Amino acid sequence: LRVLVLAGGLSYERDVSLKSGRRVIDALRTAGIDAQQRDADVSLLPALRSDPPDAVVIALHGATGEDGSLRGVLDLCGVPYVGCDARSSRLAWDKPSAKAVLREHGIPTPDWVALPHDRFSELGAVAVLERIASRLGLPLMVKPAQGGSGLGAAVVRDENALPAAMVGCFAYGSTALVERYVTGKDIAVTVIDLGSGPSALPAVEIVPRNGVYDYAARYTAGLTTWHTPARLSPSVAAAVAEVAVAAHNALGLRDLSRVDLIVDESGAPQVLEVNVAPGMTETSLMPMAIQAAGLDFGKVLAEMVARAAG
Ligand code: DAL
Ligand code: MG
Repeated sequence: LRVLVLAGGLSYERDVSLKSGRRVIDALRTAGIDAQQRDADVSLLPALRSDPPDAVVIALHGATGEDGSLRGVLDLCGVPYVGCDARSSRLAWDKPSAKAVLREHGIPTPDWVALPHDRFSELGAVAVLERIASRLGLPLMVKPAQGGSGLGAAVVRDENALPAAMVGCFAYGSTALVERYVTGKDIAVTVIDLGSGPSALPAVEIVPRNGVYDYAARYTAGLTTWHTPARLSPSVAAAVAEVAVAAHNALGLRDLSRVDLIVDESGAPQVLEVNVAPGMTETSLMPMAIQAAGLDFGKVLAEMVARAAG
């Protein structure tokens, strides 16, 4: 099998993607698969047509890789790929849309308001923020409606800090997601399907040293402690796994995803978002979960590649 691993791209998460790409290549080669890495640039389309690989693995994070556009191109070219299809990727990528679908399916997710930048300016920033803060209560989580790796995200504990958080958020995207901040354990659940239906791997509990799982805490060794499996009672762990698979299914996802959630102080899981191109770097959660399940990252990828290539 000849596998093409797409990594890089022009999103804010380019560097993360290059790291993920390298790790995926190493893992696939260890599993005996001929894998090459390539950037997703304008020369991709002619290359796919003149020399189509047997399958593509998408290690692109952020816009193109996660919003379904690249997956649409692969569909158009008839090149199979591992992971979610274009439509469901687009849905998961837009956090407010994904949250609305989760809620329709009865899957708990914190209350939120989506705020496009235009509207924010038009109506008078202060009035809008006051209304949001009074509707959702403090603290709040502010993040770009579309994005990843904690870029442009901030926890707001004091109403006076809200304008600066909005400005930081709009630097990364034109719509902000303002969400009720839920105190509890930060948990990530990888969901994989190796042919017998989606199942949840052991949950990873995230404990950032400075209390915030931001970009630095995600990708700098030593800034975060991870517990795999998460320190949850068996009944809470089971509820978390059930909710993660339900979220994966509600969004119509395929092969793999990582469901990020908070287990609140009463032990109830609340889904924050679902990632269709989870990080696969040395400090990323999906490879940790695969290892914690006693599986080999390369072999898992190889199985998914073989299934995609049919
Ligand atoms: N957006 C990063 C890559 C993640 O979710 O792991
Ligand atoms: Mg994410």
